[in-house]
Amino acid sequence: MERTHFLSMITRSLVHSLLLSLVIAAAASNITTDQQALLALKAHISYDHTNLFARNWTSSTSVCSWIGITCDVNSHRVIGLNISSFNLQGTIPPQLGNLSSLQTLYLSHNKLSGNIPSSIFNMHTLKLLYFSDNQLFGSLSFFIFNVSSVTTIDLSINGLSGEMPREIGNLPYLARLAFATNNLVGVAPVTIFNMSALKEISLLNNSLSGSLPSRIDLSLPNVETLNLGINSFSGTIPSSITNASKLSDLELGVILFSGFIPNTFVNMADNYLTSSTPELSFLSSLANCKKLKVLILTCNPLDSILPKSIGNLSLSLETILMANCSISGNIPQVVGNLGNLLVLELGGNNLTGPIPITFSQLQTLQALGLTRNKLAGPITDELCHLARLHSLVLQGNKFSGSIPSCLGNLTSLRVLYLGLNRFTSALPSTIWNLKDILFIDVSSNSLNGDIPITIGGLKNLQQMFLEYNRLEGLIPESFGDLSSLEVLDLSKNKISGAIPASLQKLLYLKHLNLSFNKLEGEIPRGGPFANLTAKSFMGNELL
Ligand SMILES: *[C@@H]1O[C@H](CO)[C@@H](O)[C@H](O)[C@H]1NC(C)=O
Ligand SMILES: *[C@@H]1O[C@H](CO)[C@@H](O)[C@H](O)[C@H]1NC(C)=O
Ligand SMILES: *[C@@H]1O[C@H](CO)[C@@H](O)[C@H](O)[C@H]1NC(C)=O
Ligand SMILES: *[C@@H]1O[C@H](CO)[C@@H](O)[C@H](O)[C@H]1NC(C)=O
Ligand SMILES: *[C@@H]1O[C@H](CO)[C@@H](O)[C@H](O)[C@H]1NC(C)=O
Ligand SMILES: *[C@@H]1O[C@H](CO)[C@@H](O)[C@H](O)[C@H]1NC(C)=O
Ligand SMILES: *[C@@H]1O[C@H](CO)[C@@H](O)[C@H](O)[C@H]1NC(C)=O
Ligand SMILES: *[C@@H]1O[C@H](CO)[C@@H](O)[C@H](O)[C@H]1NC(C)=O
Ligand SMILES: *[C@@H]1O[C@H](CO)[C@@H](O)[C@H](O)[C@H]1NC(C)=O
Ligand SMILES: *[C@@H]1O[C@H](CO)[C@@H](O)[C@H](O)[C@H]1NC(C)=O
Ligand SMILES: *[C@@H]1O[C@H](CO)[C@@H](O)[C@H](O)[C@H]1NC(C)=O
Ligand SMILES: *[C@@H]1O[C@H](CO)[C@@H](O)[C@H](O)[C@H]1NC(C)=O
Repeated sequence: MERTHFLSMITRSLVHSLLLSLVIAAAASNITTDQQALLALKAHISYDHTNLFARNWTSSTSVCSWIGITCDVNSHRVIGLNISSFNLQGTIPPQLGNLSSLQTLYLSHNKLSGNIPSSIFNMHTLKLLYFSDNQLFGSLSFFIFNVSSVTTIDLSINGLSGEMPREIGNLPYLARLAFATNNLVGVAPVTIFNMSALKEISLLNNSLSGSLPSRIDLSLPNVETLNLGINSFSGTIPSSITNASKLSDLELGVILFSGFIPNTFVNMADNYLTSSTPELSFLSSLANCKKLKVLILTCNPLDSILPKSIGNLSLSLETILMANCSISGNIPQVVGNLGNLLVLELGGNNLTGPIPITFSQLQTLQALGLTRNKLAGPITDELCHLARLHSLVLQGNKFSGSIPSCLGNLTSLRVLYLGLNRFTSALPSTIWNLKDILFIDVSSNSLNGDIPITIGGLKNLQQMFLEYNRLEGLIPESFGDLSSLEVLDLSKNKISGAIPASLQKLLYLKHLNLSFNKLEGEIPRGGPFANLTAKSFMGNELL
């Protein structure tokens, strides 16, 4: 008994003196401590292509004159460390946590690897922490985020794994939490959706799950960016989002064709409006979010129609991505009200009816994606008013009539995909005006007539798909002027005559398909033809 008591007294006094010496060490930390911490960092840099740190961070000069270092004029302590974008390799030593006055720590855009030492998350003066775009790995699960003064933690684009610690939710001043593009797993702690100072939360591209709080307006009153895309979040989009008045960027979707696990935010089917058809009622909630700029819901099974309230969304809206959301019905005319849209992507849904003529009001639109729907009717001249359009992607619908020659007015076009529709006209010769065009696909329609000879003016054209049509006449000699052409498919048409020798000039041509036409004569042997097989020419009886 006596002995135990004695031992425990010794232990206690040991612990006490240990604590005391720690406190003294902390109190006595000065610029020398800072210098040692930074020299430890220097020693852990294994590659520095400019040798900058080897030459500049020398003990013979003051730490405060070192490159990337900011000192406080009064205390002469290091308050800022910025060595981002130096292409450095190496690891982060635990001694870095000894920079006990540090406020800003920028290590972004390097190739630093290894674990983040836990001492980093114990720096009580730290405000800004940027480690993004490195090769850091290891689990975050057991970290205690004891950095109460921090306002930004950006660990995006690394290989960090494990679960997100609950304690992040206890950081009272945290405004920006960016963990995008890591390998985080598990349920995102509810505490992170309950932070009054938080303006941006970006968890894009992890394997996190969970759902949004029902009173998002109360739990994240200052949220501007909410990006949970490419994860496994689920549940409904709460109607309280209507009160999130500062929201400008809502991303709950998946980038198309990425192959990632989709989120499954569903529509809150709600029948009070007009019919028994479920409508995207949260869209009317979003109408109050006057600062909304970005709305990404791609690949969520929303299973509804686009309500008229979409026309009441904020005029600041620039991007709508709602591809593959199981949306049916017509595109409401009121979409034309969204006069500042840059990108409208509604591909892979079940939309029917025509493109509303009000689209002519979308004067700033740069990309229109309506591929793989059931849209029908002619392409009207209204589309030709969209002077800034660089991508017009309409393939895989039931559009009919002629390809309007006024498309030649869209001189900013780079991508024109009209394939797999029911167009019946000739190819308009105005295509010659599209000087910047890179990709043209009008395949699988019923286009007829000759290929316009003016086509040779398209110096940047890389890929052209004209197959499965009823085009006739000759291959224009001017094709030889398409000096950037890599892919040309003219198969399954009624093209006749000889293959022009000028095609031998197409040095970048890798894929040529002229099969199943009525071509005749000699196949040229020069240039790209040297590498082409008989498959490119089969089904031309006289060739
Ligand atoms: C820093 O503190 C150490 C003791 O911890 C002391 O020896 C040293 O002289 C101090 N350096 C400066 C520059 O004050
Ligand atoms: C280190 O770089 C800073 C900033 O460019 C410069 O002012 C300082 O003189 C350099 N020191 C040495 C020892 O090269
Ligand atoms: C950090 O340094 C980089 C490169 O020297 C510079 O481009 C960047 O603006 C600096 N960042 C801050 C926040 O000072
Ligand atoms: C700095 O930190 C390391 C590990 O975090 C510790 O062992 C060491 O005693 C500290 N050095 C000084 C000078 O404070
Ligand atoms: C967090 O920091 C405080 C203040 O320095 C310290 O007393 C406490 O022990 C730390 N907590 C943990 C879990 O490290
Ligand atoms: C998602 O992360 C993977 C690596 O984990 C990366 O290859 C991919 O480009 C990222 N996608 C996006 C959209 O950031
Ligand atoms: C959110 O935070 C408040 C105050 O910090 C707390 O009372 C409430 O229980 C928290 N809610 C959740 C869901 O964690
Ligand atoms: C929006 O906030 C008001 C005031 O707090 C509240 O009465 C209303 O229910 C909220 N709306 C939603 C949809 O949560
Ligand atoms: C759109 O807003 C107008 C004016 O605020 C309102 O009268 C109308 O009912 C709203 N439309 C829808 C479909 O919510
Ligand atoms: C379109 O609707 C049909 C019939 O209702 C359904 O089978 C199909 O899965 C839907 N397609 C998409 C992409 O939502
Ligand atoms: C296309 O441009 C021509 C020539 O500038 C012009 O006359 C015509 O009205 C334009 N068409 C459309 C639909 O804007
Ligand atoms: C043909 O293929 C070979 C091997 O792939 C390549 O080296 C050569 O450049 C190609 N020739 C032309 C004209 O494309």
